[in-house]
Amino acid sequence: QVIDCTNLTVLPGLIDPHVHLRDPGDPRVETFLGGTRGAVLGGITTLFDMPNTAEPVTSRDRLERKIELMSGQIWCDVGLYLAATKTNSVELGTLEQQENVCAIKVFLGSAKGELLVDDDASVETIMRDGARRICFHSEDETRLQERKKLFLAGGPHRLHADWHDVECAFLGTRRLAALARRTGRPIHILHVSTAEELSYLQDFRDLVTTELLVNHLTHFGPDIYDTHGGFAVMNPPIRDRRHYDAAWAAVRDGMVDCIGSDHAPHSREAKERPWPETAAGLTGVQTLVPVMLNHVSEGRLSLERMVQLMAEGPARVYGLANKGRIAIGYDADFTVVDPDRRRTIEQDWIASPCGWTPFDGYECTGWPAMTVIRGQIVMREDEVLGSPSGRPAGFSTAGLS
Ligand code: DOR
Ligand code: ZN
Ligand code: ZN
Repeated sequence: QVIDCTNLTVLPGLIDPHVHLRDPGDPRVETFLGGTRGAVLGGITTLFDMPNTAEPVTSRDRLERKIELMSGQIWCDVGLYLAATKTNSVELGTLEQQENVCAIKVFLGSAKGELLVDDDASVETIMRDGARRICFHSEDETRLQERKKLFLAGGPHRLHADWHDVECAFLGTRRLAALARRTGRPIHILHVSTAEELSYLQDFRDLVTTELLVNHLTHFGPDIYDTHGGFAVMNPPIRDRRHYDAAWAAVRDGMVDCIGSDHAPHSREAKERPWPETAAGLTGVQTLVPVMLNHVSEGRLSLERMVQLMAEGPARVYGLANKGRIAIGYDADFTVVDPDRRRTIEQDWIASPCGWTPFDGYECTGWPAMTVIRGQIVMREDEVLGSPSGRPAGFSTAGLS
C-alpha cells in the first residue's frame, strides 16, 4: 500500500494519555465506539482510558470485563488504568503487571465513594505495594470540603476556581512529592494546574513526572467562565492568566512530560446545572491535536516539542511497548498532519454522543489529515475507514518486580 503524503508532515502516532471513555456507562454521553471514533478523526492513534466508570476498574474481574467489552468497539488502541481504593493495593500491586494496564490511578481528592483515597497512610500503602509509576489526581480533599463551605450555591461558574483554589492542588502535590520521596516510588501527577506546583516539583524530577492539559494551555479565567459558563467547569479548574503563563513556561523549560485532553464527557443537561451542581469535566480527545497544532502555528511551541510531549513523553512515562507482538521495532502508527490547513472546530464534527466541545468556533491552523494504525489508514480527510480494529495497548513491565 502506498500512502501519498505530498505536502503533509508525518508524525509518530500521537497519544492522548488522559481520556474518560465512560464505557460501560450511559451511551447517550459516551461509548468506546464514539469516543475512539473521535480520537482517530482528531489524529490520535492510542489513548489511555480512565477507570472511574460506573463500575470502576478496581479488580482483575472488572479489568477483564472491560477488555472484553472493548473488543470490536475501538477505532484506536486503548491502554487501561486501574482504580485504587483504600483496600485494593495488594491486588493492584500484582494486577499492574497485566500487559494492557497503563498505570494505577489514585484520586487524592475530587472523587466520590470508594475511589477517594484522601489520607497519607492509604497512599503510602499503595506506593509500597507494586513498582510501576502511579498516576494521581492531586487535590487535597479536606481543604476542598472546607473551601466549599465558604461559597453560597447559585453563584457564577467562575467561583469554581476559587473553591478549588491553588492551595487545594498545591497541598495535594506537596503531600504526594513527600510520599514519593519517602517510598522511592515514581509517580506521575496528572493535570498539573498551578505555577506553584510546577516550581515546587523542580526538585523532584528524579521521581515525579507531570502532565499538563490542553485546556489549561488554551483557556484562562475569568474570561472562559464568562464565555462558557458551566461548559468551562472541570477539576482541577481552569485558572487565571498567571497559571496559563507558567504552564507555557513549563512546556518550554522541560518541566512537563505529557500533554493530555482529560476528555471527560457529561450530558449538556449536567453541564447546564447551576454552580456548584454543574458536572465537572470537558470533552477533548478529538480536538487535542488540532488545538496543539494551532499552538505550534502561533509559535508557542515547536512541532518537535509537541511530538515529544504527545508521543515520546507518554510512551516513556507509561512504558508503552509492543509487548507480545513484534520483537524489535514499533507498530507503524502515524499521525499525518497538514500544518497549513486552516479550519474551524465545529460542534457537529464531534463524534462523542454527548455532542459538544468547549472549542466550538476555535480556528486552527494545522489539522490532522490521516490517522495510520499498524500501517492501515483509519482516518483520511474526515472519513473513518475500515472497521473498529483497535487493540488493547501493550505496556512493558520488564525489570519490575
Ligand atoms: O473535571 C473532571 N472530570 N476531573 C476529574 O478528575 C474527573 C473528570 C470526570 O470523570 O468527569
Ligand atoms: Zn483528574
Ligand atoms: Zn481525568
